[in-house]
Amino acid sequence: MGCTNRCEEKLEKKFPKADEAVDLSLLEPVLEKYAQSPGSLITILQKAQDIYNYLPVEVLKFIAARTGVKPATVYGVATFYTQFRLTPVGKHVILLCQGTACHVNGSENIMTALCDELKIKEGETTPDGMFTLQNVACLGCCSLAPVMMIDGETYGELTPDKARQIIRGISKQEQGA
Ligand code: FES
Repeated sequence: MGCTNRCEEKLEKKFPKADEAVDLSLLEPVLEKYAQSPGSLITILQKAQDIYNYLPVEVLKFIAARTGVKPATVYGVATFYTQFRLTPVGKHVILLCQGTACHVNGSENIMTALCDELKIKEGETTPDGMFTLQNVACLGCCSLAPVMMIDGETYGELTPDKARQIIRGISKQEQGA
């Protein structure tokens, strides 16, 4: 068995396939545009993640096949950069800053409140697939510490109660949607 096969097996064990099948045809326009451009692997992975919300193993294999880049290289790049996710995330990704300014201003308390509100731990996704909670390093707006970002929007000067209210607001909007 070659190294590539072993790498694939290892990866599939670590990142099991999602239940539903992945529609690879969604990636066709991206591959048509970039597959033959040298040095565009990261761009393809970014666009694939935008489409699927994460990078399923099937998609990584497909990208390797279509670009001619070795699967081990594609997996290596996808696992090296923290911007890439290899497991599914919720519809709303909560990034709670744990940088120094946020830490000294009580980000731990915000995390406790969010875990309690969502009934999950850091790094987990709610069973309904609505929220994923993740710690991140400095979000670059330390004057507003403690800070979290949800779907690209920044929420600053958080208190545990304010954080809970923000989550409840999003949940309410979802229920009304
Ligand atoms: S430390 Fe949290 S935004 Fe900089």
